[in-house]
Amino acid sequence: MAAKGLEGVVVAQSRLSDINGEVGELIYAGYDIDDLARNTTFEEVCYLLWNGELPTPTQLEEFSAHLRKHATLRPEVVEMIRNYPTDADPMAAVRTAVSALGMFDPDADDISIESVRHKAIFLTAQTPAIVAAYERVRNGKEPLDPKPDLGFAANFLYMLNGEEANETRVRTMDVALVLHAEHGMNASTFAARVTAGTLADVYSAVTSALGTLKGPSHGGANVEVMNMLREIDESGEDPGAWVRNALSGGKKVMGFGHRVYKATDPRATVLRELADKIMAEAGETRWLDLSDRIRAVMAEEMEKKGKKIYPNVDFFSASVYSTLGISMDLFTAVFAIARMPGWTAHLLEQYADNRLIRPGSDYIGPRDRKVTPLSER
Ligand code: ACO
Repeated sequence: MAAKGLEGVVVAQSRLSDINGEVGELIYAGYDIDDLARNTTFEEVCYLLWNGELPTPTQLEEFSAHLRKHATLRPEVVEMIRNYPTDADPMAAVRTAVSALGMFDPDADDISIESVRHKAIFLTAQTPAIVAAYERVRNGKEPLDPKPDLGFAANFLYMLNGEEANETRVRTMDVALVLHAEHGMNASTFAARVTAGTLADVYSAVTSALGTLKGPSHGGANVEVMNMLREIDESGEDPGAWVRNALSGGKKVMGFGHRVYKATDPRATVLRELADKIMAEAGETRWLDLSDRIRAVMAEEMEKKGKKIYPNVDFFSASVYSTLGISMDLFTAVFAIARMPGWTAHLLEQYADNRLIRPGSDYIGPRDRKVTPLSER
């Protein structure tokens, strides 16, 4: 019997993260996501995923300097981005630029652990610069180099908007990155591991991951959530009626449901808190109010149907990113920035103990047919 969607199939052992979907719990390398979100930064989480331990202050300083050193794009890549169509999907822009980075790396095919570690840092540092450069170029602005005195999240917002963000905004961005950094054998991570399983290079593997993240059932859902919020807002319709209509028409409500979580995604809980804070500061609570209303109606409807469908990480990340001034169609690319350390940490595991990933399929087509010559068909 085929395991459709590979549900319940275990394909690897990993030290990186674990999800208890029944109670809505997520850990990275033994630490609860809530604890990490409240008490660490994205740089510390990258270090944790690649090294298995949180850094000491000296290790963190050295590591952050290393990340910053690789955050400037080479001129050829900036030039390439300048030549992209200005209406390209940002995920296509990131996927193409990340893939191109591999052509400029003379050691691209080196999959020794030391080299993969170096590429993990390099790619994690480059991705926000690519996203920001594309956003600026398509708006007729010059791409900006990172500032040496800013952290990862602050630099991303600076390169994107051309001005330094305040502390609340930087912390919000940083926590959103922490929450999205790693998530077990999700579709994009699996895609990266399948590619690495053939002993293809790191750039090919993360390009596979980027292509997979793009879909609306995975990373693309955060864009769809914002589309939905806008659609409801602009329609002037009662949100409850809109949701009930969508459900009775057999539609899925974006930002709800998850293959693994059968309780609220713990990342959504943290994001809801962050949303509250920055939206209150921005004096604009429209998206949060609307999100809360949709959540309440979904809770009622799902209870009636006896389905365990709860908000996932994308539900609140959409309104958080929107309040941070990030263009709606960039949301999935921001997810990609955050997930790069997770993907590359999985690549370290895959290359260290590789076996080609090659599942089977049940053949259900005909057999014993004979070819009729072309002239007689
Ligand atoms: N709204 C309404 N009903 C839903 C939703 C939803 N968002 N999600 C699942 N359901 C229902 C399905 O219609 C199905 O009902 P049925 O049994 O009566 O046919 C049942 O719940 C099971 O759903 P599946 O699609 O089979 O569950 P699966 O595990 O394959 O899908 C998925 C999970 C793809 C995430 C799905 O819940 C979905 O499409 N959600 C909306 C998109 C989204 O938010 N994706 C982001 C996921 S998180 C991430 O990638 C970061």
